[in-house]
Amino acid sequence: MDKLKITGGGPLEGEVHVSGAKNAALPILCAALLADRPLELTNVPELMDVRTMIRLLNQMGVRSSRDQPGSVRLDASGLANPVAPYELVRTMRASVLVLGPLIARCGKASVSLPGGCAIGQRPVDQHLKGLQAMGAEISIEHGYMNATAKRLRGTRIVMDMVTVTGTENLMMAAVLADGITILENAAREPEVVDLARCLVAMGAKIDGAGRDVIRIEGVSSLGGASYAVMPDRIETGTYLAAVAAAGGRVRLLDADPGTLDATLDKLRESGARISTSDRTIDIECSGRPRAVNLKTAPYPGFPTDMQAQFMSVSAVANGTSVISETIFENRFMHALELQRLGANISIQGNTAVVIGVERLQGAHVMATDLRASASLVIAGLVANGETVIDRIYHLDRGYESLEAKLSALGARVERVK
Ligand code: UD1
Repeated sequence: MDKLKITGGGPLEGEVHVSGAKNAALPILCAALLADRPLELTNVPELMDVRTMIRLLNQMGVRSSRDQPGSVRLDASGLANPVAPYELVRTMRASVLVLGPLIARCGKASVSLPGGCAIGQRPVDQHLKGLQAMGAEISIEHGYMNATAKRLRGTRIVMDMVTVTGTENLMMAAVLADGITILENAAREPEVVDLARCLVAMGAKIDGAGRDVIRIEGVSSLGGASYAVMPDRIETGTYLAAVAAAGGRVRLLDADPGTLDATLDKLRESGARISTSDRTIDIECSGRPRAVNLKTAPYPGFPTDMQAQFMSVSAVANGTSVISETIFENRFMHALELQRLGANISIQGNTAVVIGVERLQGAHVMATDLRASASLVIAGLVANGETVIDRIYHLDRGYESLEAKLSALGARVERVK
C-alpha cells in the first residue's frame, strides 16, 4: 500500500491549478443516466472516486470514453441493468446518487445500502422518504434498496435535515417526474447548483437551486449536453489552509472564490492576507497563524469538509481554538493522529479544544478518511523532520496530483510504493 513521506519545514511559494470538484462531478456523472443522448463533460478530476463512479455506470450499460485529460463522454442510450452492487457502493457512498436517476429513467432500481463509514452513520432515509413521496415503492431486501415506480409524480417534499446528496438525488428524480416537485429545506451547496445547471443544459426545468426551496417542473425526456464541472472549493481550501499553516505566498488558478466565503473569512481572521479576482485567489502568510474558533454548518456556513484541515492550522496557531462539528457525529478521527505529531487537542463530544504549539514533530501516522488525510498532509508540512502517512488511498479518492501540486510549491513530498 502506498505511503506519503513528507519532510516538513519551509514556506510554500508558487501557483497551483485547482481541479474540477469531486462532489460536483459525482452527481453530474449520474445525471447522464437520465438521458439517451450523450453527456459531454469537461473539468472532470482524475480521481479514484470518479473512476469508481464511471465503472458503476459502465456495468449498468452506460458507454464512456475519455479522449483527453479532464473530459468524459457518457452515453446512457444502452442503459440495461439498473443495479448498483455492494462491491462498488461499499467503496464510495456517493454511489447512492444513481438511485433517483435510475427510478426516473427505468422505473426500477436496485441499489446496495451504503452502510456506515468512518465519519458517522450517514443514513439515507431522506432520499427514500422523498422518492416514496413521489410514488416510488421501495423495499429493503438483503441489504439492497429495491425500488419501482411507473412514473414518478411531482409533489412537495420537506426534508428533515439539510442533506447534499439527498437534495441531488431527489432533484434528479424530479426532473423526469410528472408535474411539479417542491423541495423544501434543500441543501444550498454550490455543488447542488452545479448539478442543477448541468440538468438545465440537458433540458430540465429547475428554479431556485442554491436557495432552500427548489422548484422542479418535470419534463418527458432530457437531451444531451456539454458541461464544465465547477472548481473544487474543498481542494482550494485545503491548499489555502496549507499556506496558513506553513506560511508563504501562493496563487490558486481556476478557482471560484465566490464559493469559499466562510473559509476565506476564517483564514483572514487567522492573519492570512488574501485577495481574489474572478478565477484566482492569492494568499500570503507569515509567522504563526492566530487561533480562530469555528463551527461547521451547511452552506453557506463553514464546511465540515474543511474542519480537519483547519484543525491542523489550529495545531500550530498562536492561542487556543475551539472547533465544533455539527454535521457528522464522529469526525474527529484526525485529532488522535495529530496528537501523535505533538498537537495539543482535547475532545468533548462534538467540540475540540486545540492549544496551538510552536512546532509539530514528524511521526508515522495513518489516514482514516479523505479530509482527515488532508489534515495530516498539512501537519506533515509544518512538522520537524519526516512524517509518513499510511493508507493514502483515501487521498487518491479526492485530491488530483497532490504530490505534484505540493512539490511545485516547494514542499518535500514523496510517494513511497
Ligand atoms: C456530502 C458530501 C460530503 C460532505 C457532506 C456534508 C458528496 C458526495 N459528499 O455528503 O463530502 O461532507 O455532504 O457537507 O457530496 N443525513 C440523514 N439522513 C439522510 C441524509 C443525511 O440523517 O437521508 C444526515 C447525515 O448523517 C449527516 C447530515 O445529514 O449527519 C448531512 O449529510 P449529507 O449532507 O447527506 O452528506 P452527504 O450528502 O452524504
